[in-house]
Amino acid sequence: MPLTTSAGEGLWLDTASSTDYPSPRQTVDVDVAVIGGGIAGVTAALLLARDGARVAVLEAARVGTGVTGCTTAKVSALQATVYSTISARKGDEAAAAYAEASLAGAQRVAEIVAEEKINCQLERRDAYTYAADESERASVEREQEAAARAGLGVELVDSPDLPFPTHGAVRLHDQLQFHPVRYVQGIAAALRRAGGEVFEQVRALGLSEESPCRIATTAGEVRAGHVVVATHYPFLDRGLYFALLKPQRSYCVAARLAAGSPSQGMSISAGSNTRSVRSFGGWLIIGGEGHPAGSGKAVPERYERLEDFAREHWNVAEVTHRWSAHDPVSYDHLPMIGSYRPGSSRLWVATGFMKWGMTTATFAGMILADRIAGRENPWAATFSPQRASLTSLHEVAQLGAKFAAGVTLDRVSPPEAWSAKGIQPGEARVLRDGAGKKGVYCDEEGTVFAVSLDCTHLSCVLRFNAAERSWDCPCHGSRFAVDGSVLEGPAVRPLPRRKS
Ligand SMILES: Cc1cc2nc3c(=O)[nH]c(=O)nc-3n(C[C@H](O)[C@H](O)[C@H](O)COP(=O)(O)OP(=O)(O)OC[C@H]3O[C@@H](n4cnc5c(N)ncnc54)[C@H](O)[C@@H]3O)c2cc1C
Ligand code: FES
Repeated sequence: MPLTTSAGEGLWLDTASSTDYPSPRQTVDVDVAVIGGGIAGVTAALLLARDGARVAVLEAARVGTGVTGCTTAKVSALQATVYSTISARKGDEAAAAYAEASLAGAQRVAEIVAEEKINCQLERRDAYTYAADESERASVEREQEAAARAGLGVELVDSPDLPFPTHGAVRLHDQLQFHPVRYVQGIAAALRRAGGEVFEQVRALGLSEESPCRIATTAGEVRAGHVVVATHYPFLDRGLYFALLKPQRSYCVAARLAAGSPSQGMSISAGSNTRSVRSFGGWLIIGGEGHPAGSGKAVPERYERLEDFAREHWNVAEVTHRWSAHDPVSYDHLPMIGSYRPGSSRLWVATGFMKWGMTTATFAGMILADRIAGRENPWAATFSPQRASLTSLHEVAQLGAKFAAGVTLDRVSPPEAWSAKGIQPGEARVLRDGAGKKGVYCDEEGTVFAVSLDCTHLSCVLRFNAAERSWDCPCHGSRFAVDGSVLEGPAVRPLPRRKS
């Protein structure tokens, strides 16, 4: 059975078979419950099971069908301009911890693939951050210096492995790329072999942190000594994550070439108009066009711009796949891994992977396994969610202020239309709905759906995503299908239906 995703039919989901794990049929009682079956959740679960814990993964859909199924899947310690960014915001020590953890994360991926014999097309590749024009040259040089200070064996080179001129690049040898869905499915199978359990189509709805913790789910109660929240955006509104993380959406296309072969290196441009390039077999994959999630900027033209870029530089026969997703970026550009809230010793979180979760979520699993087993971990303090320092407070306040301003503006702004009369197939309209707003969508068969646009998470007003035909939240990235069902959290409840 082909896999489906909340965000169109991507290459990875189209080229993997589906898992078919059951939902829980009775109360589950384990040492550790991991909520979320993406790369963060299954990695933590496997490492915990290897430590001897009784572990269960609870996945709302199918393993690997979240953002992990919609990535570009470069497993690299060189990540665009991450070292110059961290070093400027948090200092060289934090950048060095990030580099060391990222190298260890990539290495752990390679070890897991070898140990568990996972067939996921793991390949060694050089990673590049390149200057697309002269104005990006300084960023590339800064990145080379910051990454070298952080301990990476990077070098400046004249050109990455691309069929068009660039203005120089930073290179890190010997990084990895793989098929992300086959990888996480392989980890889920390894977890079962190690005695763990995987449950699918079970959504966690709430949690009480007692001894044991009790998780309310759509399939009954789960009891666990520890709970890892690996739901991408944390779904519990404890710990103030909603003021700390901003989801950023990006797009990918995959193309078959009429002649020549795709570039073998993994490249990404250094500027804000990102272009990310890798190959998968005969496919060329291009990513980019990032913007804040739910901002109303999700339009089909973003795919067209990526396709134009592919056609301009390669001999493209056919664009076969389009997909998109978002990933949270934290207020200080470091992932958030550790206790869910101050003083908590049973509730854990891994989030804020900034579109580099293949390595970052892997080292998150390593940190959480150490913390839960009571072992020291050298990176735990750097990535602790409780690290907020005085210098960061104004960044947190800025995110909070943007959130409050956005909510108020959306509430008072006039609707985009006054009625659904004459709505055409493929069209969406925002209408007044008492004191709030409702979204009306007409599908290609002419069926009209009307739903409240009050996000069921914390009531921000949703906006239409024209690229994926969904209602998306600008505040924390929840997404809903046109019939109101939840596509992505942190929301866990569907949108109420309305009369059109
Ligand atoms: C376009 C794009 C390109 C990217 N490219 C790269 C790249 O090249 N290299 C790289 O390292 N990173 C990349 N990333 C980032 C990377 O894909 C993510 O950081 C990573 O996949 C996040 O993994 P996750 O496990 O946190 O989330 P997910 O994979 O989304 O897993 C979370 C899971 O939790 C489940 N869930 C949610 N709520 C609940 C609930 N209440 N109960 C039960 N289950 C729930 C979801 O169904 C989902 O399966 C990219 C991201 C994007 C958007
Ligand atoms: S996702 Fe938080 S208000 Fe919508």
